[in-house]
Amino acid sequence: MPRYHTLGRIPPKRHTQFANPKGGLYQEELFGTAGFSGMSSLIYHLHPPTVVSRVVQLADLSPKISIEKNMRAMSLKGFSLEPSGDYIDSRKVLFLNQDLQIGLAAPKTFSKDYFYRNSDADEMLFMHKGSGTLKTMYGQIPFSYGDYLIIPRGTTYQIDFNSEDNRILFIESSSPVVTPKRYRNNFGQLLEHAPYCERDFRLPGNLETRDEKGSFKVLAKKQGILWEYTLLYHPFDVIGWDGFNYPYAFSIFDFEPITGRIHQPPPVHQQWEADGFVVCSFVPRLYDYHPLSIPAPYHHSNIDSEELLYYVDGDFMSRNHIEKGQITLHPGGIPHGPHPGAIERSIGKEKTDELAVMIDPFRPLKITEEAMKLNVEDYYKSWLI
Ligand SMILES: [Fe+2]
Repeated sequence: MPRYHTLGRIPPKRHTQFANPKGGLYQEELFGTAGFSGMSSLIYHLHPPTVVSRVVQLADLSPKISIEKNMRAMSLKGFSLEPSGDYIDSRKVLFLNQDLQIGLAAPKTFSKDYFYRNSDADEMLFMHKGSGTLKTMYGQIPFSYGDYLIIPRGTTYQIDFNSEDNRILFIESSSPVVTPKRYRNNFGQLLEHAPYCERDFRLPGNLETRDEKGSFKVLAKKQGILWEYTLLYHPFDVIGWDGFNYPYAFSIFDFEPITGRIHQPPPVHQQWEADGFVVCSFVPRLYDYHPLSIPAPYHHSNIDSEELLYYVDGDFMSRNHIEKGQITLHPGGIPHGPHPGAIERSIGKEKTDELAVMIDPFRPLKITEEAMKLNVEDYYKSWLI
């Protein structure tokens, strides 16, 4: 997050003695990204973060590929994914390339027996169903329906869900997920033309410092392998921190749509960017107001980009027979466009209630075995009249 934040107690000068009440020192950790060139935070622990008593290799979570090279339009029924008991088991990767993995999860719980740490990737969680609290070493973030949670890689976390009815669209990104550069000035401040401003972002709060000794399991993923680290001290033993690297939340309902007299291109909906893909938010908005406008999009060839749409709510005007939680994938290299009748149907409409998340990866996506379990047969033929 290109914005300074601090919680708890920190010393006035970095890298200096920070005395604890027991006559010892708090333990400083620089949590850096991109070597020492990316965003970082300075974290002050009660105990050294390095005290590990056991490391065990648990499982290989690497997705199993079903289709290596794809040029068919596809659709998946996301809500057909069966809810599963626990958070890590529930995460099913559906699509991937070297820049990102895209998946769905329907966890009933997040076990209190462990903490999770994705050491491979920055995570974007879009909360389609469910509410609760993201608990991290940086503090806590309450979340509810429509929230994006951005969790930088290496953040140790747990999630307290308020119920068992949870549905999540997630991205694991090989590079940081950030606000588009064109929305920011040289100092990182969001500019007036951006569809959101700093006030819309919810940063960690309620830092609870846990001074507990025992046996704490951190399940950490690295290179697709899940490792069990047993720590001697509670991983949330942070007395204070400051910097730019931390998780945060943004509600899709705080995205201010940009509209025009004629159809606006997808970049006006852009929410996030990372190396190799962008994410857009399609939110309820007024339609185009030129007297001859066509609110439905024109056919288009996203020739060098895949286009994956995740339907959240409302009536998605360019598609027929789409349900909540459904995914469409329109691969690069071929044109796609509105379903038969959608263009004519859109004329004269003044507004839309559609809510959707679009992910456009620039490199082709591989399709996993988990995706094929949700596949809608012959979706690519659905433009036949
Ligand atoms: Fe499109």
